[in-house]
Amino acid sequence: MSDIKKILVPIDGSAASRKAAERAVSIAKKNDSEITFVTVAAVPDLYRYGDMRFRVEKSYGDIVNNAKELETKMIDKFLDELNIEGINFEKIVVVGEPYEEILKIANESKYDYIVMGRRGYSKITRFFIGSVTQRVISEAPCPVIVVKE
Ligand SMILES: Nc1ncnc2c1ncn2[C@@H]1O[C@H](COP(=O)(O)OP(=O)(O)OP(=O)(O)O)[C@@H](O)[C@H]1O
Ligand SMILES: [Mg+2]
Repeated sequence: MSDIKKILVPIDGSAASRKAAERAVSIAKKNDSEITFVTVAAVPDLYRYGDMRFRVEKSYGDIVNNAKELETKMIDKFLDELNIEGINFEKIVVVGEPYEEILKIANESKYDYIVMGRRGYSKITRFFIGSVTQRVISEAPCPVIVVKE
Protein backbone atom coordinates (compact mmCIF):
# COMPACT_ATOMS: atom_id res chain seq x y z
CA MET A 1 0.00 0.00 0.00
CA SER A 2 1.11 3.48 -0.72
CA ASP A 3 0.26 7.03 0.25
CA ILE A 4 -1.00 8.06 -3.16
CA LYS A 5 -4.30 6.24 -3.37
CA LYS A 6 -6.48 8.44 -5.53
CA ILE A 7 -5.66 10.90 -8.30
CA LEU A 8 -8.10 13.22 -10.06
CA VAL A 9 -7.23 14.10 -13.67
CA PRO A 10 -9.30 16.75 -15.50
CA ILE A 11 -9.21 16.18 -19.25
CA ASP A 12 -10.21 18.68 -21.93
CA GLY A 13 -8.51 16.81 -24.77
CA SER A 14 -5.69 19.35 -25.14
CA ALA A 15 -1.99 18.47 -25.46
CA ALA A 16 -1.37 19.71 -21.92
CA SER A 17 -4.11 17.52 -20.51
CA ARG A 18 -2.55 14.56 -22.32
CA LYS A 19 0.78 15.28 -20.66
CA ALA A 20 -1.03 15.51 -17.33
CA ALA A 21 -2.76 12.18 -17.93
CA GLU A 22 0.54 10.51 -18.84
CA ARG A 23 2.12 11.87 -15.68
CA ALA A 24 -0.80 10.67 -13.57
CA VAL A 25 -0.60 7.21 -15.13
CA SER A 26 3.09 6.98 -14.34
CA ILE A 27 2.44 7.99 -10.70
CA ALA A 28 -0.41 5.47 -10.53
CA LYS A 29 1.76 2.65 -11.87
CA LYS A 30 4.41 3.24 -9.23
CA ASN A 31 1.98 3.67 -6.35
CA ASP A 32 -0.87 1.42 -7.36
CA SER A 33 -3.20 4.42 -7.25
CA GLU A 34 -6.67 4.74 -8.68
CA ILE A 35 -7.34 7.47 -11.26
CA THR A 36 -10.56 9.40 -11.84
CA PHE A 37 -10.60 11.07 -15.25
CA VAL A 38 -13.13 13.87 -15.50
CA THR A 39 -14.30 15.84 -18.51
CA VAL A 40 -16.67 18.77 -18.15
CA ALA A 41 -18.81 19.58 -21.15
CA ALA A 42 -19.14 23.34 -20.94
CA VAL A 43 -22.52 24.59 -22.09
CA PRO A 44 -22.29 28.15 -23.43
CA ASP A 45 -24.03 30.72 -21.24
CA LEU A 46 -26.38 31.67 -24.06
CA TYR A 47 -27.78 28.18 -24.03
CA ARG A 48 -27.69 27.87 -20.30
CA TYR A 49 -29.77 30.94 -19.67
CA GLY A 50 -32.05 30.41 -22.59
CA ASP A 51 -31.67 32.94 -25.35
CA MET A 52 -34.87 32.45 -27.32
CA ARG A 53 -33.18 32.44 -30.72
CA PHE A 54 -31.33 29.30 -29.75
CA ARG A 55 -34.24 27.74 -27.99
CA VAL A 56 -36.34 27.67 -31.14
CA GLU A 57 -34.04 25.19 -32.81
CA LYS A 58 -32.91 23.11 -29.92
CA SER A 59 -34.14 22.60 -26.41
CA TYR A 60 -31.82 22.98 -23.47
CA GLY A 61 -32.01 19.23 -22.95
CA ASP A 62 -30.90 18.53 -26.54
CA ILE A 63 -27.95 20.87 -26.21
CA VAL A 64 -26.85 19.32 -22.93
CA ASN A 65 -27.18 15.79 -24.31
CA ASN A 66 -25.31 16.74 -27.44
CA ALA A 67 -22.48 18.37 -25.50
CA LYS A 68 -22.23 15.36 -23.22
CA GLU A 69 -22.19 12.95 -26.16
CA LEU A 70 -19.39 14.84 -27.91
CA GLU A 71 -17.26 15.02 -24.78
CA THR A 72 -17.84 11.33 -24.04
CA LYS A 73 -16.53 10.51 -27.53
CA MET A 74 -13.56 12.77 -26.92
CA ILE A 75 -12.56 11.19 -23.60
CA ASP A 76 -13.12 7.64 -24.87
CA LYS A 77 -10.75 8.26 -27.76
CA PHE A 78 -8.34 10.04 -25.42
CA LEU A 79 -8.27 7.08 -23.04
CA ASP A 80 -7.91 4.62 -25.94
CA GLU A 81 -4.73 6.40 -26.92
CA LEU A 82 -3.38 6.39 -23.38
CA ASN A 83 -1.42 3.46 -21.99
CA ILE A 84 -3.72 2.60 -19.09
CA GLU A 85 -3.40 -1.18 -19.02
CA GLY A 86 -3.40 -2.42 -15.46
CA ILE A 87 -4.57 0.93 -14.09
CA ASN A 88 -7.61 1.07 -11.90
CA PHE A 89 -9.58 4.02 -13.25
CA GLU A 90 -13.01 5.53 -13.63
CA LYS A 91 -14.27 8.08 -16.12
CA ILE A 92 -16.76 10.86 -15.39
CA VAL A 93 -18.41 13.17 -17.93
CA VAL A 94 -20.50 16.01 -16.53
CA VAL A 95 -22.05 19.18 -17.89
CA GLY A 96 -21.42 22.57 -16.34
CA GLU A 97 -18.81 25.18 -15.54
CA PRO A 98 -15.46 23.32 -15.75
CA TYR A 99 -13.73 24.65 -12.61
CA GLU A 100 -16.88 24.29 -10.50
CA GLU A 101 -17.49 20.70 -11.52
CA ILE A 102 -13.84 19.72 -11.04
CA LEU A 103 -13.85 21.22 -7.54
CA LYS A 104 -17.16 19.56 -6.73
CA ILE A 105 -15.72 16.14 -7.55
CA ALA A 106 -12.48 16.96 -5.73
CA ASN A 107 -14.53 17.75 -2.62
CA GLU A 108 -16.77 14.70 -2.85
CA SER A 109 -14.06 12.13 -2.21
CA LYS A 110 -10.59 12.27 -0.82
CA TYR A 111 -8.02 12.67 -3.58
CA ASP A 112 -4.30 12.78 -2.84
CA TYR A 113 -3.56 14.85 -5.92
CA ILE A 114 -5.20 16.59 -8.83
CA VAL A 115 -3.00 16.38 -11.93
CA MET A 116 -3.90 18.80 -14.72
CA GLY A 117 -2.47 20.81 -17.60
CA ARG A 118 -1.08 24.32 -17.28
CA ARG A 119 -3.05 25.32 -20.34
CA GLY A 120 -5.88 23.94 -22.37
CA TYR A 121 -7.22 24.79 -25.80
CA SER A 122 -7.27 28.55 -25.45
CA LYS A 123 -5.14 30.48 -27.93
CA ILE A 124 -4.93 33.42 -25.55
CA THR A 125 -1.34 33.40 -24.28
CA ARG A 126 -1.63 36.61 -22.28
CA PHE A 127 -1.98 34.50 -19.19
CA PHE A 128 0.74 32.29 -17.84
CA ILE A 129 -1.79 29.69 -16.74
CA GLY A 130 -5.32 28.80 -17.90
CA SER A 131 -8.32 30.04 -15.94
CA VAL A 132 -9.61 26.57 -15.08
CA THR A 133 -6.25 25.54 -13.59
CA GLN A 134 -5.96 28.89 -11.82
CA ARG A 135 -9.30 28.47 -10.08
CA VAL A 136 -8.74 24.81 -9.24
CA ILE A 137 -5.35 25.63 -7.68
CA SER A 138 -6.80 28.37 -5.53
CA GLU A 139 -9.71 26.35 -4.17
CA ALA A 140 -8.66 22.71 -4.31
CA PRO A 141 -8.87 20.66 -1.09
CA CYS A 142 -5.67 18.77 -2.05
CA PRO A 143 -2.33 19.50 -3.74
CA VAL A 144 -2.47 20.18 -7.49
CA ILE A 145 0.26 19.05 -9.88
CA VAL A 146 0.34 21.34 -12.92
CA VAL A 147 1.89 19.80 -16.02
CA LYS A 148 3.38 21.90 -18.79
CA GLU A 149 2.28 21.20 -22.35
N1 LIG B 1 -13.78 21.33 -19.64
C1 LIG B 1 -12.78 20.77 -18.98
N2 LIG B 1 -12.93 19.53 -18.43
C2 LIG B 1 -11.93 18.95 -17.76
N3 LIG B 1 -10.72 19.53 -17.59
C3 LIG B 1 -10.51 20.75 -18.10
C4 LIG B 1 -11.52 21.44 -18.81
N4 LIG B 1 -11.01 22.63 -19.22
C5 LIG B 1 -9.76 22.68 -18.77
N5 LIG B 1 -9.42 21.55 -18.09
C6 LIG B 1 -8.14 21.23 -17.45
O1 LIG B 1 -7.47 22.43 -17.18
C7 LIG B 1 -6.22 22.50 -17.87
C8 LIG B 1 -5.95 23.94 -18.27
O2 LIG B 1 -7.00 24.39 -19.11
P1 LIG B 1 -7.58 25.86 -19.00
O3 LIG B 1 -8.95 25.81 -19.57
O4 LIG B 1 -7.37 26.39 -17.63
O5 LIG B 1 -6.59 26.68 -19.96
P2 LIG B 1 -6.85 27.37 -21.37
O6 LIG B 1 -7.88 26.60 -22.14
O7 LIG B 1 -5.50 27.54 -21.98
O8 LIG B 1 -7.40 28.81 -20.98
P3 LIG B 1 -8.92 29.34 -20.76
O9 LIG B 1 -9.87 28.19 -20.85
O10 LIG B 1 -8.86 29.98 -19.43
O11 LIG B 1 -9.12 30.35 -21.85
C9 LIG B 1 -6.36 21.49 -19.01
O12 LIG B 1 -5.10 21.01 -19.45
C10 LIG B 1 -7.20 20.41 -18.34
O13 LIG B 1 -6.37 19.61 -17.51
MG1 LIG C 1 -9.83 26.15 -21.43
